[in-house]
Amino acid sequence: MTYLFIKCTHLASVVVWMGVMIFVPAVMVSLRPLKGEARLGAACRVRTWYLGVGSVAMIGSWIFGMTLMMMGGWMSSSWMVAKIAIVLALSALHGFISGQFRQLATDPSFELGGWPTVVAIFEFLALLLVLTLVVLKPY
Ligand code: HEM
Repeated sequence: MTYLFIKCTHLASVVVWMGVMIFVPAVMVSLRPLKGEARLGAACRVRTWYLGVGSVAMIGSWIFGMTLMMMGGWMSSSWMVAKIAIVLALSALHGFISGQFRQLATDPSFELGGWPTVVAIFEFLALLLVLTLVVLKPY
């Protein structure tokens, strides 16, 4: 029962984290036309929300995920190793986006590059791969 309850908290954290990660590139693009104080203010507000909700959900996904890994004895399973590699890439991306937010919120001359669309596609494909690995456990 405890294992399943922890899996519920794991899934809740993952749903919130992936929801934030997939929504944020669209928010970034909508900030691009804003200039000066208007953009600094908007970027600062969105960044607070991104760190307050997204980062906490990411940490929850890892803590509950690692707890399940230990309780279930999944450490040596190949699907688990592959899953962790992909989630590490998603976590690095989380950090990159946080850095972009910091620049948008502090530097009025900062120009946002063309990465939001590419990142949104990568995030969706990575999520699909993670779900396939953990639900099917193919190897
Ligand atoms: C984007 C991040 C993640 C997603 C989308 C995700 C998704 C899922 C899903 C859907 C399940 C339920 C599988 C089932 O019941 O069949 C699950 C279970 C699990 N996850 Fe994650 N997870 C993520 C991150 C992590 C991390 C970072 C770890 C470990 C460090 C982890 C370890 C586990 C373990 C051990 C289970 C239990 C497997 C089972 O009981 O069948 N997950 N995850």
